[in-house]
Amino acid sequence: MSTAIAERDAVASPADSGAEDAIQSYLVTFIIRRFDPETDSEPRWVDYDVELYPTDRVLDALHKIKWEVDGSLSFRRSCAHGICGSDAMRINGRNRLACKTLIKDLDISQPIYVEAIKGLPLEKDLIVDMEPFFASYREVQPFLIANSKPEPGKERIQSPAERAIFDDTTKCILCAACTTSCPVFWTDGQYFGPAAIVNAHRFIFDSRDDAGDVRLDILNDKEGVWRCRTTFNCTEACPRGIEVTKAIAEVKQAILRH
Ligand code: SF4
Ligand code: FES
Repeated sequence: MSTAIAERDAVASPADSGAEDAIQSYLVTFIIRRFDPETDSEPRWVDYDVELYPTDRVLDALHKIKWEVDGSLSFRRSCAHGICGSDAMRINGRNRLACKTLIKDLDISQPIYVEAIKGLPLEKDLIVDMEPFFASYREVQPFLIANSKPEPGKERIQSPAERAIFDDTTKCILCAACTTSCPVFWTDGQYFGPAAIVNAHRFIFDSRDDAGDVRLDILNDKEGVWRCRTTFNCTEACPRGIEVTKAIAEVKQAILRH
């Protein structure tokens, strides 16, 4: 394995106005779990040394490797700004978004390990098959179901207090970081998982929706909310800061009341 870190030459700022403006770059070692279904029978760890600035993100490192070292490295990304949810991966054993993980926040005196999220079928390198995740999401009917229509030209009225009840769960970007950090999901792929419950919560507690009871029945299943063991992995993993475990607990309480 190569040296974990080595200081490189200082790189002058655009103004080139003296040593105080110099920006230091570092050689950072990434060890990435690679898997090509056409040639590999098992995943293998491959290391890469990448020159980076502290303000770079893990996504920048992956781009450098892909564009300058090995174009076959495969991973998903789109927005690069923490909105699309497509680049969740395990970075040093924690689920994170690569585009939101700054190099300066990692210990670069050690290699940085990157691998695909766990519990979903591995397709290639850092890419997993998300279909089982989205199947659970679809099952909880994550859309507004209302029995009546608003008056012509009017909106469905909701007070700020009614909106606040489910504000947190509206922030979900479906990155799967929560569900794939859950030990129950790892051992039982049938469990709906935190993300599906979060997205059910978003409509169960929406005063404009009339299908909350239907969703509570769906989640009162042996693979539903009662599989949650309150380990808080999901809350720790969520890049949007959603209180996932609290949302699951609120759905459990709603089931007991209905
Ligand atoms: S709840 Fe958070 S971690 Fe889970 S899918 Fe939504 S944004 Fe991602
Ligand atoms: S690339 Fe869109 S959230 Fe990271």
